[in-house]
Amino acid sequence: MSAREPAPACERRWADADTAHWYSTQRFRTKRSLERDLVQIRALLKRHSIHAPGVVLDVPCGTGRLAPLLRGVAQRLVSADVARAMLQHAKQAAPLNEAHIEADLRALPFADASFDLVVCCRVLHHQATPQEFAAIVRELARVSRRWIIASFWDHASLPALRTRWGLKPSETRHAVRRALVRQVVRDNGARVVGFRSAVRWISQQTFFLAQVDSAPRAKQ
Ligand SMILES: C[S@@+](CC[C@H](N)C(=O)[O-])C[C@H]1O[C@@H](n2cnc3c(N)ncnc32)[C@H](O)[C@@H]1O
Repeated sequence: MSAREPAPACERRWADADTAHWYSTQRFRTKRSLERDLVQIRALLKRHSIHAPGVVLDVPCGTGRLAPLLRGVAQRLVSADVARAMLQHAKQAAPLNEAHIEADLRALPFADASFDLVVCCRVLHHQATPQEFAAIVRELARVSRRWIIASFWDHASLPALRTRWGLKPSETRHAVRRALVRQVVRDNGARVVGFRSAVRWISQQTFFLAQVDSAPRAKQ
């Protein structure tokens, strides 16, 4: 992106200190809301026997909400986010020797195949077009050498249907079809091996687990 281009809304949304503080202290203040994503990630790891995934990247890490879970399974955790204010909260709650890196998901500052597992939670549904969605998946697949776990909003869910019917007219986030997720992942040298949501057809927030092909990938 050129220096003159304004940051997309999805980035501006979390850029200030008040929002970061709210996200850290209020957004997931009930145990139920805090646990919701963690349960799905744990279930995917368990179902696919991913017990000790080595070096793990959490991007975007936000205020470090997933870090306790990921730290528990990883040999080393690296956290990255574009918003300095969010990253600051994540850093405060982390051990001193853990890496926190200011980075744009669309151009991650890591070499190809740097991580055993890349986790990307709650950002893909903010992408306005399939091209923007694909640009992020491309980077996740590029820096992973084995696994990707990412959340998206499932088109085949009741809340997405309500949005399509115009019952949630102010919605700015986007649901996509599982077929599109599979296709975009496949286009980037990986393969979806599982989907997981709290309640199929009802829950919009859905995770996919993808396995990166072990064959060397062509540079794009
Ligand atoms: C809803 S929060 C999710 C944070 C964390 N994954 C979680 O589940 O709590 C979305 C995060 O995406 C980050 N973000 C948005 N666009 C980004 C980009 N292009 N590169 C890196 N981070 C981005 C924001 O700064 C924010 O921290």
